[in-house]
Amino acid sequence: MSRFPDGFLWGGAVAANQVEGAWDADGKGPSVADIATYKPHLDLKDFAAHHVVTSASIAAALADPDVTHYPKRRGIDFYHRWRDDLALFAELGFTVLRVSIAWSRLYPTGEEEALNPAGVAFYRELFTQMRRLGIEPLVTLSHYEMPIALAVKYNGWSDRRVIELFVRFATTCFTEYGDLVKLWLTFNEIDSIRRHPFTTAGVIEDKSTQGFEQAIYEALHHQFVAGAEATRLCHELVPGGRMGCMLTKLITYPLTCEPGDVAAAQARNLENMFYTDVQTLGAYPRLTLVDLENRGIRLPILPGDEELLAAHTADFVSFSYYMSMAESVSPDAERTPGNTVLGVKNPYLQSSEWGWQVDPVGLRISLIDLYDRYRKPLFVVENGFGARDEVTPEGRIHDPYRVAYFKGHLREMRRAVEQGVELMGYTSWAPIDMISAGTSQITKRYGFIHVDFDDLGNGSGERRKKDSFDWYQRVIATNGASLDEE
Ligand code: BG6
Repeated sequence: MSRFPDGFLWGGAVAANQVEGAWDADGKGPSVADIATYKPHLDLKDFAAHHVVTSASIAAALADPDVTHYPKRRGIDFYHRWRDDLALFAELGFTVLRVSIAWSRLYPTGEEEALNPAGVAFYRELFTQMRRLGIEPLVTLSHYEMPIALAVKYNGWSDRRVIELFVRFATTCFTEYGDLVKLWLTFNEIDSIRRHPFTTAGVIEDKSTQGFEQAIYEALHHQFVAGAEATRLCHELVPGGRMGCMLTKLITYPLTCEPGDVAAAQARNLENMFYTDVQTLGAYPRLTLVDLENRGIRLPILPGDEELLAAHTADFVSFSYYMSMAESVSPDAERTPGNTVLGVKNPYLQSSEWGWQVDPVGLRISLIDLYDRYRKPLFVVENGFGARDEVTPEGRIHDPYRVAYFKGHLREMRRAVEQGVELMGYTSWAPIDMISAGTSQITKRYGFIHVDFDDLGNGSGERRKKDSFDWYQRVIATNGASLDEE
């Protein structure tokens, strides 16, 4: 028996910079994603080094036309194959698809007076076709793809002038697509700004004359303000429009019940939730303000900002959930990578090849924590398992590990719904293999649909259904009732 409400939205999520490719086609300008290099051998435990971007490295990348070592430039060629891909999503039974709009397809440098008509037309056709297929678009305004020109000229979001440019872009999106798109998200994983400031907000260390940390929090404050303004505009310009905020839900358990471990885990969890506190409760939490003050960080709050944040909070809270981690005060505690974080290894959990600790129950705990704290509808907008897949000589892809991951998480999600959590929908990450955000590999595969490209872009690009395709199709067709099957 299914206990998901009628009308529950089932689907998948992608991001423009990881699927579209065509990075310089039809007038598109380069974005911060287009300088991300292929990092298969990344030291998973050294995220700081992994995310270093300098003015010199940006200039070198922009002068380099190569697409092999900048995989997000080629994506999975969704820009040309989107009709076929949407047909496969419709075959899966999707009622929702999360996509993002590449800002630099509409405004190549972010500052043009005139819109790029080819970019506008691309998304209009995409959303129109989604509607025809009965798929509700859920659209992220900013998913790690700001025009790189703004990063270089303004040091990204650390400059307040970027707010106005983003608001103009958001206004364009609402007026061009508001008849087709009702569900919107402001910033993907806004909290990630501290883990990869360049990818999230275009902030470059060597341009941060007042200090890198200071620039990061300036950028974050500007994103909060821009998000509140975009929420206001969404309500004004999109009939029936709803705006969500979006968090990387990183849940941390104490490694032991030694109170020091509990306090260390609490600190991480509070830090993780502070972002949605601002976006949902409408004000900076006092604990965060004191913490920033103690660290010598000054928030660039101008008159009117606090009123705006308070007046235009998110309508719903969306989040990604992939893994959990533990924390401990013991210097000997073994650490393992997660989604752009390092946490302590939890002896009760298994990890993926990339070290991410698989924890379905953590999804239930997250849903309950978030719902209890914010009392707003939730939306799981990313959840999935990156793994290498083998194509058999017969052309089949058997991926029971992926089915096991999803089955575990969806069952726990259902339990949270049974406990009273209001959940609007679920979009898996990702329905189709794509370029990894972290390592730019495609061989870290997430999809129900296999894409015949290797990490260097060799291959036909042909799409092929994996075993998990049929499994997810049945989950959707039965509104989750098939999760009771073994
Ligand atoms: C999320 C991002 O944090 O994690 C996605 O929003 C990303 O863009 C996903 O793809 C999985 O991470 P990765 O590094 O395996 O692609």
